[in-house]
Amino acid sequence: NFDKPSIINFDKIGSMQLGYITVAEETKNIPFDIKRVYWTYYTPQDVTRGGHAHKNLQQVIFAVSGSITFNVEDREGNKETFVLDSPEKGLYLSNLIWRDIQFSHSAVLLCLASELYTESDYIRDYQEFLNYRSK
Ligand code: TYD
Repeated sequence: NFDKPSIINFDKIGSMQLGYITVAEETKNIPFDIKRVYWTYYTPQDVTRGGHAHKNLQQVIFAVSGSITFNVEDREGNKETFVLDSPEKGLYLSNLIWRDIQFSHSAVLLCLASELYTESDYIRDYQEFLNYRSK
């Protein structure tokens, strides 16, 4: 599956008076079966996380709080920056996307993932990513 990294705009149900709810639901607005959910938090602003690609994993990623910047490179070498700055925006990442991630103060990242955790799915070396994608 090769899809370009893209923003999915989710519905925002509610009102300014009462607040909002946004729903991610398999088959409706998530393009894979969700096997795992994780969240990251308390990442200092001067830290860059990520620095890897996945061989098979697909993800939809949210900034449920704060703002999170993704610098991504796809398997064709296209580089793009995505800023998740609103809880109803999701970033879809297929497999073989290199990403570097930076967080605003108190940002919380929520990830819906298509596979269980396996370290062997990670490509953590950039040169290995370049070699792997040219195969
Ligand atoms: P990693 O995916 O490298 O974090 P990031 O891309 O945010 O920098 O994961 C960080 C650590 O957490 C790594 O040691 C593996 C572990 N981890 C799990 O054990 N299970 C998981 O589902 C995830 C996502 C990470």
